[in-house]
Amino acid sequence: MGARPFASARRGEAKGRAPNVIGKCLMQQRRGATIAIAGLRKEFGEGRERVLALDGIDLTIAAGEFCCIVGPSGCGKSTLLRILAGLDHATSGAIDVDAKGWPVANAMVFQESGLFPWMNIEKNVGFGLMTRGVAAVEAGKRVDAALRLVGLTRFRHHYPHQLSGGMRQRGAIARAFVTDPGMLLMDEPFAALDAQNRTILQAELVRIWEETGKTVVYITHSIEEALLLGDRTVVMTAQPGRIKEIIDIPFRHPRNVMELSSTAEFGALKLSIWRILEDEVMRARAEIDG
Ligand SMILES: Nc1ncnc2c1ncn2[C@@H]1O[C@H](COP(=O)(O)OP(=O)(O)OP(=O)(O)O)[C@@H](O)[C@H]1O
Ligand SMILES: [Mg+2]
Repeated sequence: MGARPFASARRGEAKGRAPNVIGKCLMQQRRGATIAIAGLRKEFGEGRERVLALDGIDLTIAAGEFCCIVGPSGCGKSTLLRILAGLDHATSGAIDVDAKGWPVANAMVFQESGLFPWMNIEKNVGFGLMTRGVAAVEAGKRVDAALRLVGLTRFRHHYPHQLSGGMRQRGAIARAFVTDPGMLLMDEPFAALDAQNRTILQAELVRIWEETGKTVVYITHSIEEALLLGDRTVVMTAQPGRIKEIIDIPFRHPRNVMELSSTAEFGALKLSIWRILEDEVMRARAEIDG
């Protein structure tokens, strides 16, 4: 996760969708890292304890793509994300993340916001800039832009316990975007929220992604969520996690998540992905039930 000061970040030319003012202020350059995964395998433990978590993963994710990953519980989704983030190592295979020119290679957002309870939202969002030695004026501008991006400006002096779960997740998203990472790695970021907050934050994330054009790898248990958000959906098998199928999501941007989810095309695609996933979910359940 090579961290470099923002001052030295390459200012690339604008590509793809035109960013609005907030996006421009936050993003040093458009789009994001490219990711190439080849023959990835991950084993945990040894002997009778050995678990083959991931096997034969080949996946290329383009700069600026929103790639969703669905699969049954225990199929290795979080493990794959941790390896991509550099938090764990593959047993074999290759991962090539081209994040040249980005100040930070990646940022992660988890199911729980992970905000520091002793810092207000503004400090939480700016923490990654402070630790990287970004000058106060520059950091202040970037924190302002990130808070505006997620609609938390009015709550900047609140502490996490003073906010709702949805607002805390917004804070986590702002904290991830403020560092201008090459890619955003999201592990079920909205799974713990109620349905209404989830819908609102999905719409927000679609908007932010459309503005910033970041590369996003997004793990979810929800086929619906994968269809609302992603360009492609990777369906994984039950353990050991392998790629079963990769589906292109045909819906155009900008997307209105509420309208999209009520269309016939959406329903049909959701059902066809469920058919692909169903056997794997049943197989994973059978293993859990013994
Ligand atoms: N640190 C670890 N040590 C040993 N085994 C591990 C470790 N981390 C994960 N595993 C195993 O690897 C497999 C995949 O786990 P992982 O958390 O990646 O699954 P997942 O697809 O994210 O599941 P879920 O949908 O429930 O979050 C599981 O069998 C798990 O027990
Ligand atoms: Mg997981």
